[in-house]
Amino acid sequence: MRCLRIQYLHIMNLQLPYCFCFFLLLQLPFSTNGQAYKNVSLGTSLTAASGDLPWTSPSGEFAFGFQQVGDAGYLLAIWFNKIPERTIVWSANRNNLAQRGSTVQLTADGQLVLNNQSGTRIWTRPELGGSGADYAAMLDTGNFMLAGQAGANLWQSFDQPTDTLLPTQNLNLGGELIAPYLEKNYSDGRFKLILQDDGNLVMHTTAYPLTTSIFAYWTTQSSIGSGHQLIFNQSGYMYVVATNGTILNPVFSNSVPSQDLYLRATIDYDGVFRQYVYPKTASGGKRWAMNWTTLPNSIPSNICLAIRYSAGSGACGFNSYCTLGDDQRPSCRCPPGYTFSDHDDERKGCKKTFISQDCDHPSQEIDSFEFRDMPNTNFPYADYEVFSPVDEDWCRQSCLSDCYCDVATFIDGKCWKKRGPLLNGVTDPSLRDKALMKVRIANWTAGSSAKKRDPSALIVTGSVLLGSSIFLIVLSLLGIYVFFTRWNRQKRKVIPQHHVIRDMNLQNFTYNELETATGGFDEELGRGAFGPVYKGVLGDEDKQIIAVKKLEKMAGEGETEFKTEVKVIGRTNHKNLVQLVGFCNEGQHRLLVYEYMSSGSLSNYIFGDSRPNWHRRMQIAFGITMLTGTADNDTMDCRTHIITSIPAFVFIENRLRPP
Ligand SMILES: *[C@@H]1O[C@H](CO)[C@@H](O)[C@H](O)[C@H]1NC(C)=O
Ligand SMILES: *[C@@H]1O[C@H](CO)[C@@H](O)[C@H](O)[C@H]1NC(C)=O
Ligand SMILES: *[C@@H]1O[C@H](CO)[C@@H](O)[C@H](O)[C@H]1NC(C)=O
Ligand SMILES: *[C@@H]1O[C@H](CO)[C@@H](O)[C@H](O)[C@H]1NC(C)=O
Ligand SMILES: *[C@@H]1O[C@H](CO)[C@@H](O)[C@H](O)[C@H]1NC(C)=O
Ligand SMILES: *[C@@H]1O[C@H](CO)[C@@H](O)[C@H](O)[C@H]1NC(C)=O
Ligand SMILES: *[C@@H]1O[C@H](CO)[C@@H](O)[C@H](O)[C@H]1NC(C)=O
Repeated sequence: MRCLRIQYLHIMNLQLPYCFCFFLLLQLPFSTNGQAYKNVSLGTSLTAASGDLPWTSPSGEFAFGFQQVGDAGYLLAIWFNKIPERTIVWSANRNNLAQRGSTVQLTADGQLVLNNQSGTRIWTRPELGGSGADYAAMLDTGNFMLAGQAGANLWQSFDQPTDTLLPTQNLNLGGELIAPYLEKNYSDGRFKLILQDDGNLVMHTTAYPLTTSIFAYWTTQSSIGSGHQLIFNQSGYMYVVATNGTILNPVFSNSVPSQDLYLRATIDYDGVFRQYVYPKTASGGKRWAMNWTTLPNSIPSNICLAIRYSAGSGACGFNSYCTLGDDQRPSCRCPPGYTFSDHDDERKGCKKTFISQDCDHPSQEIDSFEFRDMPNTNFPYADYEVFSPVDEDWCRQSCLSDCYCDVATFIDGKCWKKRGPLLNGVTDPSLRDKALMKVRIANWTAGSSAKKRDPSALIVTGSVLLGSSIFLIVLSLLGIYVFFTRWNRQKRKVIPQHHVIRDMNLQNFTYNELETATGGFDEELGRGAFGPVYKGVLGDEDKQIIAVKKLEKMAGEGETEFKTEVKVIGRTNHKNLVQLVGFCNEGQHRLLVYEYMSSGSLSNYIFGDSRPNWHRRMQIAFGITMLTGTADNDTMDCRTHIITSIPAFVFIENRLRPP
């Protein structure tokens, strides 16, 4: 006895695969000289995380006790006890997990009580006063019962199901199953199945986090008025019967050899009611994998199409769309231009990855948006305008110039304009609608999560750079030439602090000023051969935004050389280019300070349909005609922003202004 108990303690603490092996080893002692099945007598208790053995059924197939749910706490639950997954079929406290040290006790006066660590009752059965139980029993059906005088049934877990029904467990009028929130998060979720008082068996979406019904997505209409009970019989059939026992509506008609297979019917977190089987033994399961297998004809057959209502998000979260996989399970995805709000919980929906159209200047922004076509896709009930008869191009233009329009759908000369949050999104081959997702063209996806305040600027930067490598080499050589000739000729001189080079209107900053302006060189915009570039804000009245270039490779060169360099770069300014604002030349520190332009409209100009070709863009940048022959403007990778050389710095920071 003692030995057995120790072995069990080990089992409770082992990982599942090992646990399973140990469990098999234990089958022999358990069934031959192990503890005989006993009813749960008054005064017996279990403590969460103490290693107490759960209360098992005579066959050992079901157990009642505590199951740990991640790090969140413990469920007082009933589970399949002979399979490694320990699949939970019922729980008492799914919305209020118990902590380590909590106890469940069948008290001396016959109450089944769950107490938290400090001894406060958090759940108790039977609920109302009256006589207590004489004993409790975990039955081989998976039903846990409190028995009164002469075995009278005072309470049973079968009468208060959570998300699962077991064979012989029937649902009476008013009985309901509530889907779990996620596969391994058992708290109340977003869907439920209820045998209504009128006899109608219905599946509803709920007003999460409440469990009130919102929209019925599946019903057995014909049982209204005469439906009396939902029967789940031993061989796997499930149906609604009338008071006289007549079958009114079959629900599942899968015939299951119950001697070989465990069976359950569960409303899953995705809102689908499914039957599952698991082989009881490896030999009995020749046909079946040693795992829960879904039986055919889940309800509803396609939940993606089943839920369409004006309130609630549909089968998936807001702004996402649902599609049925090859495994007949729904999956939730984000449309182009959107990403999951919470990657750990895809059903929380999707959010835009781009900045919405500016309603103050919608016409200016038309060129910033494009459509991503999603065939066989619709977002029912998200529309606010409909046009007919129109053609698809008209539909696109209408959505493009309307800042409210997030997506348009088009079918047979009809155009619907829809706004977010998008509801009931679904992609399915049966749909002929084409959804036109309106997304901002400049796409910013690079790693920086917190610091993407001005994505378009960096995109411009990167693409301009990559496309301009030949140019840069020429400029580099020029720069190096100038640098060396000046260096050889000129002598070291001290530039007075705060001296403004009058003729060029360049300001001389102290290193401290720039350190403050950039918040300690916090937000790096890019990095090149001569060092990094940081974003900053000047402390002056205008709060001018600047880009500060640290010339690491130039540290150690002379003052005069640097000053000369500043002048050279300063002169590169052109009416179309961004200004050099100033510099810092202090000890080892050499920095250049540029005007920083938020470039929403700039990027449109460069990347929009009306953008000039590469050749022309270079001309604009330098006010000259330099390149001849073919120039490639389409192979630029908009996402890269590597800065390659010092003339590149000049060019990057002197970004194009719209003419
Ligand atoms: C459980 O208790 C009932 C009622 O006292 C009794 O009939 C039954 O034999 C008990 N079962 C076991 C295994 O002790
Ligand atoms: C036990 O539950 C009571 C009532 O909900 C609560 O006030 C108390 O803090 C809980 N104790 C612990 C240790 O969680
Ligand atoms: C389950 O999900 C809900 C809703 O997101 C959350 O509040 C709760 O903490 C989760 N429970 C567990 C055990 O993770
Ligand atoms: C279960 O129901 C089906 C359909 O009514 C019936 O054919 C079958 O015999 C029933 N099985 C049991 C064990 O009652
Ligand atoms: C059983 O009840 C149903 C619905 O109330 C009714 O249609 C049917 O005729 C009844 N059958 C018998 C045998 O009484
Ligand atoms: C059992 O099924 C689950 C979910 O379908 C899967 O994640 C797991 O890998 C399967 N286990 C085995 C042993 O096949
Ligand atoms: C931006 O790019 C990412 C990955 O390349 C993509 O998933 C997303 O849909 C794109 N967004 C837009 C607005 O095109």
